[in-house]
Amino acid sequence: MPKILDGAAIAAAIKQEVAEEVLALAAHGIKSGLAAVLVGHVPASEIYVRSKVQACAELGLYSDLITPPGTVTTEEMLALVAQLNARDDIDGILIQLPLPAQVDSKALLDAVDPAKDVDGFHPVNAGRLLAGRPALAPCTPAGVIEILKRSNIPIAGQHAVVVGRSDIVGKPVAVLLLHQNATVTICHSKTRDLPAITKQADILVAAIGRPGFITPEMVTPDATLIDVGINRLTTREEFDRFFKGNAKREATFAKRGSTIVGDIDPKAFELAGAYTPVPGGVGLLTIAMLMSNTVRAAKMRRGL
Ligand code: GUN
Repeated sequence: MPKILDGAAIAAAIKQEVAEEVLALAAHGIKSGLAAVLVGHVPASEIYVRSKVQACAELGLYSDLITPPGTVTTEEMLALVAQLNARDDIDGILIQLPLPAQVDSKALLDAVDPAKDVDGFHPVNAGRLLAGRPALAPCTPAGVIEILKRSNIPIAGQHAVVVGRSDIVGKPVAVLLLHQNATVTICHSKTRDLPAITKQADILVAAIGRPGFITPEMVTPDATLIDVGINRLTTREEFDRFFKGNAKREATFAKRGSTIVGDIDPKAFELAGAYTPVPGGVGLLTIAMLMSNTVRAAKMRRGL
């Protein structure tokens, strides 16, 4: 039987550690805080940001939710970021993506003070990460490493295959795995004979954003499968492709009209040595690592 890597338990352990750090900082009169910027009305973003603000409250972190209208301009957003950079009560700045088309996202992310860049999206943090210097690392990739380490899955010397090369997940997770001494291969849409490479993986990280893209034929038995994808299935045809006959999923689908699947076909999980389920896997770590980065930023900014 494959081992299920329980994102909820690991996220809870990390949050507990962060809560203790928050208390220790408070004992020194330091109150750490996160500014969460949510532009317009994107339903998925609203859910994510609400969870982030709620996690701050649970852990004793101060949070400030700022909600500019969907018509906001790049100049107005740059002025907001400048204010947040200057505020001493804000240690972390989170600008929820995606932003409306009229806003220059890159210019905005570049304007965030790297010391407050708790998403790890600023090129200075990306560069520090690559160079092996202390850096705020992107939350989802950092969460992947926490899952592997806390589940005692060996990384050093293992062949880690990352499918997906995004700036937010694929590239940074590859760098973090390399720093843990894995042998890393990055695959993407132009990779020739992808299954031949994914089958070599001791650790396979799927971050492509396509439902069930990694099929059982692409996986070697007993591999560790890390599924970063969150894809919503809304049609009966899509549902049946992955979950036909699955009573629990049928119930969710009937109630909500949708269910989610990762980038790995659930049938591939049956072959694995260990895997992260969707939901209940990597996704839960993203928020835990955001909290961890916020406290880390609070300490680093004060030279602690
Ligand atoms: N949108 C989807 N995921 C993320 C994330 O991790 N951070 C931010 N800021 N926006 C996102």
